[in-house]
Amino acid sequence: MSELQGRRLLLCVGGGIAAYKACEVARLFAKAGAELRCAMTPAAQRFVAPLTFQALTGRAPATDLFDAAQELAAGHIALADSAEFVIVAPTTADLLARLRGGFADDVVTATLLAIPPARWLLAPAMNEKMWASPAVQENLATLIARGANIVGPGVGEMAERAHVGPGRMAEASEIVAAACALVARLPETPRIVDALATGSVAAAPHLIEQRAWDLEGVPVLVTAGPTREHLDPVRFLSNPSTGRMGFALAQAARDRGARVLLVAGATEIEPPAGVEFVRAESAAEMASVVDVRAGEMRAIVMAAAVSDQRPAERASHKVKKPDGDELLRLVRTPDILAGLGARYAQATPRPLLVGFAAETEHLEEHAREKLARKQLDLIVANDVSAAGQGFAAKDNRVVVLGRDGSRVELGGPKLAVADGIWDLVASRLSRE
Ligand code: CTP
Repeated sequence: MSELQGRRLLLCVGGGIAAYKACEVARLFAKAGAELRCAMTPAAQRFVAPLTFQALTGRAPATDLFDAAQELAAGHIALADSAEFVIVAPTTADLLARLRGGFADDVVTATLLAIPPARWLLAPAMNEKMWASPAVQENLATLIARGANIVGPGVGEMAERAHVGPGRMAEASEIVAAACALVARLPETPRIVDALATGSVAAAPHLIEQRAWDLEGVPVLVTAGPTREHLDPVRFLSNPSTGRMGFALAQAARDRGARVLLVAGATEIEPPAGVEFVRAESAAEMASVVDVRAGEMRAIVMAAAVSDQRPAERASHKVKKPDGDELLRLVRTPDILAGLGARYAQATPRPLLVGFAAETEHLEEHAREKLARKQLDLIVANDVSAAGQGFAAKDNRVVVLGRDGSRVELGGPKLAVADGIWDLVASRLSRE
């Protein structure tokens, strides 16, 4: 798990019998090379001695919010600031409730309050009847809605031998694997650029290079790739889109902390890790996924090249060739984006809607018309006739037009263009 090498993690231990398994979690993190700190609730210290975590991590865990020496050495805010990611294991029913309520009366809750929930991985552990209670489920749902990540609980034998059911804390190896996947999505820690070596920068503040992290926990939907409209099982109408631009958008959003749903047509390339991926082959399939999930989203970017028409009939068997020429009757597919524009025209809150206009002539004129007709916030106008950009190319050059009259040109690798698009989206979301 070299991904965890040097990453600054905080393990918060709650007061439940599964606290003994947190020792193994700490051991695995330390073994993976993470810079691990620990914090324990007062209840956790009744199950496992702080000395155990000190032995495993080489540092005394934070145990007491009111201990002057501990606060002086590394106060809870310093602890929060130093952690890139927090694992709470076990997360007891009581801790879930206190995290939901924003309590800050011990070192664990006070520290977590200063860290955004999207950077938490909670490993719940409790009796299966407690787990099933409406209070626990409501607390959990609220924390998930705030961006918290959950691993487990598993189904299995509980400490109370007669009980079997969901509530058992995930195994240490599962917790570490889940943390690993989530930490891989975080941007790199601010890096000191070795500018002194090049002699290009003198003043210290300029040496800090930090990537944008402005979509933390924000749910966004990105569509990508071409749709296929089948005539029969082996023939379809489609277009040359590869999905590269949409995948770059999903990846760039993920790298800024967003929770990404990527809905893709028939693409060949590998989807980015750490995003929810749904395949939708035809325009109708894509429309139904987007329509169902749109309500959860703060921004929807339709980079998919959706077929405007489909064959009126779809044969269930391969159609044999006719003797002579034949006319193919086409019918319209749903315009997904125009549908969203109409649905959210008067609504608040509404997701920010971003369309693409792939054009071969009168680029900005056509794009502006689509921006207005589909009631969008932004449209990315893309000249697909120019060499080295558009469909299948690695680079792209676009003009982004806003409903507010703004006009921004972006160019470069598709990932850089994607980042530029998210800059525009993020600045609009922050003004809402
Ligand atoms: N779009 C959509 N549903 C469709 C067709 C297009 O949601 N059935 C979306 C695309 O994903 C893109 C935007 O609408 O974000 C513009 O797509 P484009 O094909 O350029 O526009 P059309 O409205 O289809 O206009 P035309 O093909 O006539 O240029």
